[in-house]
Amino acid sequence: MTRRHKIALIPGDGIGEEVTHEGVKILKKVHQYFGVDLEMVFFDFGAERYLRDGMTMPEEQIIEFRKNYDAILLGALGDPRIPDMAHARDILLGLRFKLDLFVNYRPVKLIDEALCPLKNKTVADIDFVVLRENTEGAYVGMGGIFKKGTPDEIATQEDVNTRKGVERIIRFAFEFARKTGRSKVTMTDKSNALRFGHDLWYRVFHEVGEAFPDIEQEHLFIDALVMKMVRQPESFDVIVTCNLFGDIISDLGAQLQGGIGLAASANLNPDAPGLFEPVHGSDPDIAGKGVANPLAAILTAGCCWRTLDIRL
Ligand code: IPM
Ligand code: MN
Repeated sequence: MTRRHKIALIPGDGIGEEVTHEGVKILKKVHQYFGVDLEMVFFDFGAERYLRDGMTMPEEQIIEFRKNYDAILLGALGDPRIPDMAHARDILLGLRFKLDLFVNYRPVKLIDEALCPLKNKTVADIDFVVLRENTEGAYVGMGGIFKKGTPDEIATQEDVNTRKGVERIIRFAFEFARKTGRSKVTMTDKSNALRFGHDLWYRVFHEVGEAFPDIEQEHLFIDALVMKMVRQPESFDVIVTCNLFGDIISDLGAQLQGGIGLAASANLNPDAPGLFEPVHGSDPDIAGKGVANPLAAILTAGCCWRTLDIRL
């Protein structure tokens, strides 16, 4: 039987369109080379569509993605005409949350020494993976504002950590390390200060780790970890952490490998179509000028192919 992939293509805003164009070229070539049929379906979700008819990401579309698609390839979201990024949050976080894509896989790999801003680091020194929890934490949108715009204003933003959510990403990190021949998992949190949510991370890491005696296990507080990422990036192999810390350290990681223009990512759940997106934004200032670096989108297309290829 001929193998076949159905992929939803959402170029989005700004440079999203030109960079995904390059990613798609590679994806088509790889499918051709390995004799796998590829059906790509274009979707116009993004700023234009939102400004035109108020649509961000329809609920039915997410159900359709889950039922009939193997992957979603996304360019970038963000437009100066929508300063609060309402559409971007709805589309990106909507897909991550509603498809329950609990793994945000962000590889950090230096491809040429000259690209690294650190002194005396080689391509062998910078090669690790950030696994960011992708469905909980500070991103769940729980909280509120009271007395807005007054000197007495109060804003709360809940940080939600569930046993199930923490456990599945930590377990995924250990299994991922084992499967990909990586030998160490570092979990980073702020459990010295955040005594509830992050204490859960600390306990679960040690508990789940018991089943993986073959994998070296390290715990670092986030402030210590960011220092070590700069001083000794070669000490990392797999880093697992919460949603917010993962967002921040994956950008630091992007710089270690030569910049955000080289950073790929995949949002995954073994039971759902993955969402593949470069880590960078829509960079409207340079959109349409043909100068945006398409490598992040190309590497992202690579993540998409590898994920689909493994699942077949
Ligand atoms: C990312 C982005 C998003 C995030 C924004 C656009 C909501 O920074 O994918 O890293 O914080 O997850
Ligand atoms: Mn980010």
